[in-house]
Amino acid sequence: MWDMTESRTAVVGPGAIGGLVAAMLQRAGHDVVVVARAGTARHVTEHGLDVTTDEFGSWHAPLTAVTEVPRGARVVVAVKAEGLADAVRLVEHAEPAEVVALLNGLDHVDALRAALPGVRVVGATIAGETLRTGAGGPGPALVRHRGTLLRVVVPDDAADLGVVTALRDTPIEVLTGGTEAEVLWKKLRFLAPLALLTSTWGSGIGEALTRDDGLTAGLLAEIAATATAEGVPTTGEELRGILDGFPATMRSSLQADVEAGHVGELDAIGGAVRRRAADHRIAAPMLDDLLGRIAHRAAEIGAGAQA
Ligand SMILES: NC(=O)c1ccc[n+]([C@@H]2O[C@H](COP(=O)([O-])OP(=O)(O)OC[C@H]3O[C@@H](n4cnc5c(N)ncnc54)[C@H](OP(=O)(O)O)[C@@H]3O)[C@@H](O)[C@H]2O)c1
Repeated sequence: MWDMTESRTAVVGPGAIGGLVAAMLQRAGHDVVVVARAGTARHVTEHGLDVTTDEFGSWHAPLTAVTEVPRGARVVVAVKAEGLADAVRLVEHAEPAEVVALLNGLDHVDALRAALPGVRVVGATIAGETLRTGAGGPGPALVRHRGTLLRVVVPDDAADLGVVTALRDTPIEVLTGGTEAEVLWKKLRFLAPLALLTSTWGSGIGEALTRDDGLTAGLLAEIAATATAEGVPTTGEELRGILDGFPATMRSSLQADVEAGHVGELDAIGGAVRRRAADHRIAAPMLDDLLGRIAHRAAEIGAGAQA
């Protein structure tokens, strides 16, 4: 493990979000490494990443990749929930200066915090449609950002963190959004129904919202009651308004995972809401129903692919 100063940033998980954030920090002149599994680390070090965006230019990012978090670094965690346990193991022995997590969901923040007593760990959200392809191919992996939206929201008390200050040097819009619970729930309250409904019905959100009106209304009411109990007052009607405002064709990354035969972030998104509902003794039969249906659908598709 090599040492580095606190001004260096280590991005764990150079996928869509981690690759984009690392490339943007590097382009803004920051000292950044990505932390990846051995194969990915070799590939990134050898080829770098090619970044293509509609709004922020396109460039080659000659990133350095390592397999351990450099001691004392500021850390951005950008794995998916499936990689969280490994990310925690990577970060916990590195005495990081601070950790900012960009995953969707809630529970990852508790897992990181439990492993890093005394370290500033912050849950933040990122919005922006990004995909990484071509890792392991003959040339650089490609990070593709579509559209104009690229925004990180951090809790008010994280505005002065080193990572957050560095992100302000990039084209990423950086906002503060209240407490950490408010930041995470303001996203999860609409992300969860978007992900669960599109994954259940295998359609865009427009059709998914109208396939079963009772189920949709019940689900939104359960999620709204849970968000309200967690400190973000909202109603099912408000959530319906947010979802109706999305393009009808919008799909979710959970849906893509389910349609590839695995459950992806089902537990990190839907399971997390279900657990918080239980904490507040909020009955959640619609959530239970959809969590079961989606797991079943993923298993069936997965089994079909293997047959
Ligand atoms: N993509 C978006 O548009 C978007 C938007 C908002 C929020 N988010 C959220 O951001 C988070 C990251 O999503 P993403 O789309 O960037 O995912 P992704 O493209 O799949 O990237 C995940 C990264 O984590 C790495 N990883 C996985 N397991 C690992 C492990 N055990 N050890 C180290 N690295 C590991 C992957 O490694 P390899 O490189 O080896 O595959 C990959 O680099 C998710 O919580 C997602 O919900 C995504």
